[in-house]
Parts: sequence; C-alpha cells; structure tokens
Amino acid sequence: MKKKQQPVAPVQKNDVITASFEDMTHEGAGVAKVDGYALFVPYGLPGETARIKVIKTKKGYGFGRLVEKIDESSERTEPPCPIYYRCGGCQLQHMTYEGQLRFKQNQVKNAITRLGGLEKVPVHATIGMDDPWRYRNKAQVPVGSREDGHLKAGFYQQRTHRIIDMESCIIQQQSNDDAVQIVKNIADKHGIKAYDEEKHRGVLRHIVTRHARSTDELMIVLITNGEELPHKNKLIEDIHKSMPNAASIVQNINTKRTNVIFGEKTKVLAGEEYIYDHIGGVKFAISARSFYQVNPMQTKVLYEKALEYADLRGHETVIDAYCGIGTISLFLAQKAKHVYGVEIVPEAVSDAKRNARLNKMDNVTFAVGQAEEVIPWWHQANGIKPDVIVVDPPRKGCDQALLETMLAMKPEKIVYVSCNPATLARDLKILEEGGYETKEVQPVDMFPQTTHVECVTWLAKK
Ligand SMILES: C[S@@+](CC[C@H](N)C(=O)[O-])C[C@H]1O[C@@H](n2cnc3c(N)ncnc32)[C@H](O)[C@@H]1O
Repeated sequence: MKKKQQPVAPVQKNDVITASFEDMTHEGAGVAKVDGYALFVPYGLPGETARIKVIKTKKGYGFGRLVEKIDESSERTEPPCPIYYRCGGCQLQHMTYEGQLRFKQNQVKNAITRLGGLEKVPVHATIGMDDPWRYRNKAQVPVGSREDGHLKAGFYQQRTHRIIDMESCIIQQQSNDDAVQIVKNIADKHGIKAYDEEKHRGVLRHIVTRHARSTDELMIVLITNGEELPHKNKLIEDIHKSMPNAASIVQNINTKRTNVIFGEKTKVLAGEEYIYDHIGGVKFAISARSFYQVNPMQTKVLYEKALEYADLRGHETVIDAYCGIGTISLFLAQKAKHVYGVEIVPEAVSDAKRNARLNKMDNVTFAVGQAEEVIPWWHQANGIKPDVIVVDPPRKGCDQALLETMLAMKPEKIVYVSCNPATLARDLKILEEGGYETKEVQPVDMFPQTTHVECVTWLAKK
C-alpha cells in the first residue's frame, strides 16, 4: 500500500503566524491549519483567529503557543480559577459551559462516526450540571517542602514535578478543599517532614480526602513513605478537633519510587475503614483505595440513564462486567431478578459484597477475576443466560474475548458505559457486526471544566 504523503511543515520553529482555529483535539487544544498543515495550540478555540508562535514542527503536524487573539469565539470566557493556566488539572475553564457540553457531544459524535462508522446513531446533547463547580468528592494532593521549611500541598506545575502550594481548587467540594488545608497545617504544626521525591526521604507524600456528600462523612488518608508517622496521636486529636465529621482517618504506606499515589498497605488510625455514601436509594461503603465515581450528582444521572436503557421489569438476569464496588450492580438489582457482577480487584469485590449486605440485597452475586475469563465461564459451565449485559470498562475498552462472549450469549440488550469515545466506537463496530444495533448514545458530563467525556450507549439485538 502506498504511504500517505505527510505535508511538509510550511512554518518553522519561532515563526509567528496568523491563523484560524478550525477544530479542537480531544485534549482541548485548538487546531489551526496552515496550508493543510495542522498546528496544535493550547487554549485556541474553533472560530477564533490568532497570532501563534510556532514552538515545534514535525512531519505532518506541529505545536504552537497562543500569542494574541485577533477575534474571540463567543464560547470564550475568563477562567475563574487564578491558577488555571499553571495547573493543568482542568483544561476547559476558558470555554463557556455550554461550549464544553457541545465539545463533548461532538467528541462522541466524531468518534462513533469516524471510528465506528455509525453515521445515523443519535448522539444526544450532553447532560450537564446546573452548577458545574465544586463537584469532586475526592482530592489527592502531593505534599512538598517550601523554601522556608514549612509544608506545601497543591498540584504539580504543568509538565514538571514542581509542587505549587494551593489554597483552593474550585472543582473540589468545599469540605475537601478545607480538609486539605487543615491537614496540611496540622502536619506542619507537628513538624512532619514532606517526602522528597529526589532523595526518596521524608514522611508525608500525599494528602487524600474523600467526602461523602449524602452523609457529610470525611475520610482522611495520609500517604507516607514508611510505617513511621511521628506524633500520630496528636495528629488524630487535632484532625478530630477541627473536623468532627472525619469518620475515617487512615494511613497508606507507599515506599516505592513511583508516581503512583497509593501503596499496597492501609492502616486505620481512627474511626472506621469506610465512609458511607448514597446514590439514589442505595448505600455504599467506600474504602481508601476503591474506585468510586468522583461526581456524585452526575453519577446518579449516569446510573439512572443506564437503568432506563436496561428497561428492567423484574424478571431479568443481568451481568455487570467491570463492576467495581458494585455501584451499578446494586442500582440495577433494585429492578432485576438477579445481577452478576465481576471485577478484577479483590478488595473492590469484598466492598461490593459488603455493599450488598448493607442494602439487604440478596439477588446479587459477585466474582473476582477478569471479565473476559469469568463471563465465558459463567456462560459455559453455569449456563447463565443474561437478558441484559452492562459494561463499564476502563479507558482501554472491552477485551476482544469479552465482546465475543457477549455476542455468543445474545442478551436482548447491552448497555455500554464508557469514559473513552474512541474505544467505545471501536467496540460498537464489533458489536454491530455481530448482530447488535446501536440505538442511541447519551453523553453525561461527569467532569466539568476538563476534557473527560463519559457516555451511556444502548444496544439492542437486531
Ligand atoms: C470505570 S471503572 C467502573 C466501576 C463501576 N462500574 C463504577 O461505576 O463505580 C472500571 C472497573 O473495571 C475494573 N477492571 C479493569 N479491568 C478489568 C477486567 N479485565 N475485568 C474485570 N474488571 C476489570 C477496574 O478495576 C474498575 O473497577
């Protein structure tokens, strides 16, 4: 096959050019075209013309920096966060919320049309939040040492490992924001040393806080570079004094030279190992390391959409692949005959079983393992015949073996919850070819101000 000719760069490094943005990448950068050559420019919005400094050129595409906007898009807005351009945690604060919702709908539409070949499938408008700020129920901030020796806690400056001290993150629930400051100050008062990444010395690596919105319970996780945590009792006492709702204070130990936040070992310092939250009418115990959606208001919207697409009447057998701590499984179990959930992380499955007991639900079965191994076994050895299969895979999408098993099991409906439109599109194509029709796709904005896109898709047997 003849290789497609890549356009040779018509611009050079350090050139300053005038160009218009025609599109946006899934990472939120503006795409400007110069004689067909694409320049990716952070913070450029479609429809805008700007002066752009060329930073780097490659064969086929290059990168630029926005120097001056010549005309502005009606979707441009002033980012309310003072550290937005340094932090990198959010990527879309310079865009109106309506613009963000349209951007996400287009991401999904483009993926399923271009990669999935599904031109006719309706992709609905993204369901957004009335107030798209202060939604996150979990904060994880790295801790470092300031020049004056006191502790700092905040975020890594974009593309560096330099920690910038932060007073507030306006996508965090207020309780998390306050908790991070309080814990930082308490640890500082007791002379706890920050972990030094380069020397692999010091104690406190990260402060993680989780807030359960429905119960107002807080979990405080101190991630340390070893078992030792000086002045432990004083720390706990002060945390309780400042935050009586700190129902769970735990220490997680991570001794590895890694940027993975959590280590393998977690010790309860005070209170319970869990905090409790509700989604809809279902109660969940959440432990320090288990996956739990970060936007509680939109999680309910997402799960309700999944339930609507599953259209359960009470007689159905349902499989929830990639079930985590059983959130979707238990949500569905309220309306199904029996739900089978499978998940690869053993602790999550223990949590799922605990959550079933907590809600006195006995029409659920959870298993540990790879969905692509356990579900074929359920099918062949146990004769389980699901009416509905729900999948909520990680970003890489469903395993080929699982897709094949789903096709062999022939459920009436498949509900696909996805956090990555590209792998969703790839998998929909396979399911379409195997006898399913994609009915509709509903994007739900779980992560306002960021480029992350989540959606629920309904497929029916042809
Ligand atoms: C996007 S999360 C969804 C969790 C859950 N449905 C929820 O909404 O909270 C994906 C889950 O799949 C699990 N996982 C990843 N690969 C897996 C596999 N091959 N088989 C089963 N579970 C897997 C992860 O541990 C994670 O809990």
